[in-house]
Amino acid sequence: MTSKILIVGAGPGAPDFITPAARKAVQNAHLLIGSKRVLDLFSREIRGEMLPLTANNINETLKRAMKVAKTGKSVVILSTGDPCIFGLLKPVLKIKEDVDVEVIPGISSIQACMARLCLCWDNIDLLISFHEGTSPEKEKRLIEAVKEGKNVMLLPDSKSFSPNKILEFLLKQGIDGSLPVAICERLTYPEEKIVKGTLKSLSRPGFNPLCVMMIGKATLK
Ligand SMILES: C[S@@+](CC[C@H](N)C(=O)[O-])C[C@H]1O[C@@H](n2cnc3c(N)ncnc32)[C@H](O)[C@@H]1O
Repeated sequence: MTSKILIVGAGPGAPDFITPAARKAVQNAHLLIGSKRVLDLFSREIRGEMLPLTANNINETLKRAMKVAKTGKSVVILSTGDPCIFGLLKPVLKIKEDVDVEVIPGISSIQACMARLCLCWDNIDLLISFHEGTSPEKEKRLIEAVKEGKNVMLLPDSKSFSPNKILEFLLKQGIDGSLPVAICERLTYPEEKIVKGTLKSLSRPGFNPLCVMMIGKATLK
């Protein structure tokens, strides 16, 4: 018997952005694992047992998923947006043992952001995430890309590298304050907000922690 874990993309947040394939997988699952935000989103489809995922229990919960999958039960791990874009595919692959992994793609917050800004993938030169915290290496990649005039799409982190901290950091590095920036908050939710401005004008606190940022001239296209 081959054991399998399904990692399912849950979309950016609104029910309209859940794919039929994701709904079907959730309906058929014996065990469902995901953050509270995502489990709530699928509350109508869920028939199996639920295990809420938090930043503190991720390793033990994913290991439990492996164990249950090995008994032949159908296990679904729900990942916000798309599992392959800074999602749960990476931590699952890290601890995977004797279990096949299949991914059902979802609509990423990055795709929703590009759609709202009417941007094509080939407008983006660098995609970088700070959602697991910042590091000197990542900050170096960011600053080099912006200095070279590249267009950067990034996922901020509300604690260590919030939109405000990112913009202040770039200003301190001598980047021109008139560089276009867009901050897309709570994409697809009723309270979604797309704020466009410049490095200088948007350098202020108060942005929603659930946001995606675009920095560079392509933001104006
Ligand atoms: C752990 S990453 C997961 C990204 C996800 N796999 C995806 O494809 O969208 C979480 C980050 O994605 C971004 N994000 C997820 N949903 C969002 C939404 N509805 N609106 C804006 N940003 C969102 C935020 O930057 C958040 O901190």
